[in-house]
Amino acid sequence: MATQPTTNRGTWNSKLGFILAAAGSAVGLGNIWKFPFEVADGGGGAFVVIYLVCCFVLCFPVLVTEIAIGRKTQKNAVGAFTALGHKNWRFIGWLGILSGVLILSFYNVVAGWAFGYFIELLQGHFDIGGRFGEFISDWSTITLYSIIFMILTAFIISSGVSSGIERASKILMPSLLFMILGLAAYSLTLDNAMKGIEFYLVPDFSKVTLETVYNALGQAFFSLSLGMGALITYGSYLSKKDNIITSAALITLTDVGIAIIAGLLMFPLVAYLNNGDFSNIEGGPGLIFTVLPGVFESLSSPYGIIVGAGFFLLLSFAALTSTVSLLEVPVSYIIDEFHVKRKKAVIIMSTIIYLIGIPSLLSNGSSAFFTEFVTYIGSVSPVSFMDLVEHLSSDTFLPLGGMMIVVFAAYVWKKENLSQELANGNPNFIGSLNEKFIHFGIQYLSPTILGIIFLLTVANRFFGYNPFE
Ligand code: PHE
Repeated sequence: MATQPTTNRGTWNSKLGFILAAAGSAVGLGNIWKFPFEVADGGGGAFVVIYLVCCFVLCFPVLVTEIAIGRKTQKNAVGAFTALGHKNWRFIGWLGILSGVLILSFYNVVAGWAFGYFIELLQGHFDIGGRFGEFISDWSTITLYSIIFMILTAFIISSGVSSGIERASKILMPSLLFMILGLAAYSLTLDNAMKGIEFYLVPDFSKVTLETVYNALGQAFFSLSLGMGALITYGSYLSKKDNIITSAALITLTDVGIAIIAGLLMFPLVAYLNNGDFSNIEGGPGLIFTVLPGVFESLSSPYGIIVGAGFFLLLSFAALTSTVSLLEVPVSYIIDEFHVKRKKAVIIMSTIIYLIGIPSLLSNGSSAFFTEFVTYIGSVSPVSFMDLVEHLSSDTFLPLGGMMIVVFAAYVWKKENLSQELANGNPNFIGSLNEKFIHFGIQYLSPTILGIIFLLTVANRFFGYNPFE
């Protein structure tokens, strides 16, 4: 295989830059918007333990494999399969690109909500929580915010790998860490904070069912940005000197750490508002948009505006480093495969993806047609266009893609070749316990579990069969 010139593809300037960019991809709306409530619904500390096992045991081998495929080939998610000599398997990359395009199309809309909330709270509009439904169904406002968000994403990507993505991550990630720690520290000082923590973390094993495990794995997979080639793409800019295993461990730790801290920030706030009484709290991700603004309002001035605007700025930063990675996947594909210039590739892809997202934008009340878009077999209530896209891409395609990536690496590319790539920057890898663990993961454990997840999701979402009832 001829070595390809890599100079014009871009590379990370440092190992830290790569870790921050990949952790930025991982840390996103999933961590701050969804994770805390999955924990509360799924049995508190019991869920956290299951989640940790999912991340470090089931997802870790997939994470490592994606990065290794990228670094070995220095190619985008599709080109990587061709470069390894298995052109017939490049459909995995296409599925990944499709998933990325679909996820970004609706993720950008939600990111637009977060950014819009930041602007509203900056102006002290605490009543926004009560107007959430109105806000997201106001298409012109959401169009404005979501366009701004897509432009920010496109701008970062168009500046290239090291001067765009890496530089932005080096600013956004430390700021995010600083903000989340500051906000969590503050919220832990509020009255009833411990009641919130209790609700969040005290294990309740009666809530743990097979469905909890299923949710934990889905959440872990999405949160680590796996199954769609984001890490193949980011890995393709990584130097051969870097140790993939330790990088992947740091990425996972950051992702899990930020998710757990997000709950430490959120639940004391909710407890403060409700005097520690959680019996009337409706869980679910809508809560952060409906309930939190009321909490901010009740804080003494000027904390309300600082904490409120700070919280949604934090959410926007987390979303931005994720949208960047979602857009980079199709962009790097058309740069490599069609020899399009980066700037042009960014303009083409961000426009297409924005357009694909319009029905999602309209599906939260502005258009009845898109809001009640389809009714699945065996279900009674219709789901919106946005939910349909989410069910297809993040819930269905990601586990399928992840399963195929590890099956490919274990049986087609061969695990010995994977090991050789992982040994770059990690000379003791071959023969180590780590190697055995990764091999066992990609050959048996991860594909089996991901395959089951994929089948259950299809049966459950689209055919009305609930295996958990
Ligand atoms: N991991 C991101 C989150 O938690 C979402 C994401 C998924 C980003 C897939 C890139 C690829 O919000």
